[in-house]
Amino acid sequence: MPLPPPPEGGTILLIGASRGLGLAMAAEFVEKQWAVVGTVRGGQTKLHDLAEEAGGRIEIETLDITLPDQIAALRDRLSHRTFDMLFVNAGVADESRKPIGDVSTDEFIRIMTTNALSPMRVIEQLEPLLSATALIGVMSSGRGSIANNETGEDELYRGSKAALNMFMRSFAARRAGSDRSMVLMAPGWVRTDLGGPNARLTIEESVPNLIDVLLARRRDPGLHYLDYLGRTIPW
Ligand SMILES: NC(=O)c1ccc[n+]([C@@H]2O[C@H](COP(=O)([O-])OP(=O)(O)OC[C@H]3O[C@@H](n4cnc5c(N)ncnc54)[C@H](OP(=O)(O)O)[C@@H]3O)[C@@H](O)[C@H]2O)c1
Repeated sequence: MPLPPPPEGGTILLIGASRGLGLAMAAEFVEKQWAVVGTVRGGQTKLHDLAEEAGGRIEIETLDITLPDQIAALRDRLSHRTFDMLFVNAGVADESRKPIGDVSTDEFIRIMTTNALSPMRVIEQLEPLLSATALIGVMSSGRGSIANNETGEDELYRGSKAALNMFMRSFAARRAGSDRSMVLMAPGWVRTDLGGPNARLTIEESVPNLIDVLLARRRDPGLHYLDYLGRTIPW
């Protein structure tokens, strides 16, 4: 029997909301009458400016996803709350863009730890804060598709997002038969600090669509690897 449709609105825990796609997601969720708990690494950010205009609908928390103690502390601070969605947006690019054999060990560890290991730690640690039917989303990339890799380029970044996809497959496999909806999202190539000025899409062309896709998948159990228009990406 299909699950009942979700109620309008809710509260999202949005990890990595200081700028770029995460900041735009916070603004769009507020637009849709959601409450947002957004995380930043510290200091004054654009999320703070947005929160001032959002009439109390944005709360700001602090988290560097690579620091397990900070994940545990956030879980403890939020232990009395229940969220309707968790989305891990935080991620970094490998600006050297070297072929994989030329990448330094330090850079390999930095990118893989931030993009693959840390989002999974966040998801595993914070899942107890979610309702049974809350969606878990994580920002992957079209670059994470092994099947679509015809050109190389961004080899370490690609590898980190492919690893993230694989780790989410394992996480989802451990939840087979549950009502949990999970989405690995590819936002398209978007003009942000990470995407650069030559990217194909504006934030406005990506983020509202991406959020409509997440909302539409809220009662669709299992793991889905989707782009910002809701199209399935081959693994
Ligand atoms: N833009 C694109 O074309 C594109 C395409 C595919 C996928 N993506 C993915 O989309 C996500 C957001 O990218 P973006 O384009 O918005 O990049 P961005 O403008 O560079 O923003 C990156 C965000 O991640 C946060 N972050 C980085 N490392 C973190 C850490 N260790 N702990 C907590 N937060 C951390 C940053 O926080 P600070 O402000 O503290 O640095 C910032 O909020 C990333 O996962 C990226 O891989 C982007």
